[in-house]
Amino acid sequence: MQIIIAKCKEEFDRIAADTVSQQIKDKPNSVLGLATGSTPLGLYAQLVERNKRGEIDFSQITTFNMDEYKGLPKDHPQSYHYFMHKYLFDEINVRPENINIPNGEAADWAKECAEYEEKIRAAGGIDLQVLGIGHNGHIGFNEPGTPFEALTSLIELDKRTIKANSRFFDSIDQVPRQALSMGIKTIMQSRKLILMICGRDKAEIAYKAIKGPITPEVPASVLQLHPFITVLLDQDAASDL
Ligand code: GLP
Repeated sequence: MQIIIAKCKEEFDRIAADTVSQQIKDKPNSVLGLATGSTPLGLYAQLVERNKRGEIDFSQITTFNMDEYKGLPKDHPQSYHYFMHKYLFDEINVRPENINIPNGEAADWAKECAEYEEKIRAAGGIDLQVLGIGHNGHIGFNEPGTPFEALTSLIELDKRTIKANSRFFDSIDQVPRQALSMGIKTIMQSRKLILMICGRDKAEIAYKAIKGPITPEVPASVLQLHPFITVLLDQDAASDL
């Protein structure tokens, strides 16, 4: 596990963007795993700028997002479809047919999850997976207690996740209670990972994820077992290390 502590937010975003840019330069037809949340917003802004400046090319890139709320239409402002299009996909030259996000409106979620796994396999697996972390240690929407062997599945969201994510909705009642999420095993099968952690409020979980016991109660702790993972923290998130 490589641990990088960025001096400031600008450096944090730049290092993340350098990691993704290098992957794209090394393998122009890379398969990227992508995350939502506030943490990667600066990364996405940098990727948009670099793409507009002609420094990186997404024309052969395939993307797989980790998760989507169950029941939210794609055009709902809080859906991860909407988020990804707004902050990244609509601004770069990725081909729409190469974008993959779980369909939260699928009639048969078990089929949707199995097909998502199959699509990742058919694309050759994920080369670089970008990850954030929830305050309870979730990755994607894999909540505490999710088995490490889990593949893409329907997840019951934890009370703490619903509360944390309610900041984006008009009221907590509007936050979906379930989500489709790439599994922990699926995430671990990625060739390389970058886990991004920022903010003082993430310091405790950063410590548990990086230095604590490896346990399904802290889903991100499984990442300690990955041979090619970079953990990128800002100084606040690294304050308990
Ligand atoms: C959501 C997403 C996660 C993300 C987490 C943290 O729950 N499903 O993939 O890592 O939020 O988000 P933030 O970066 O806003 O703290």
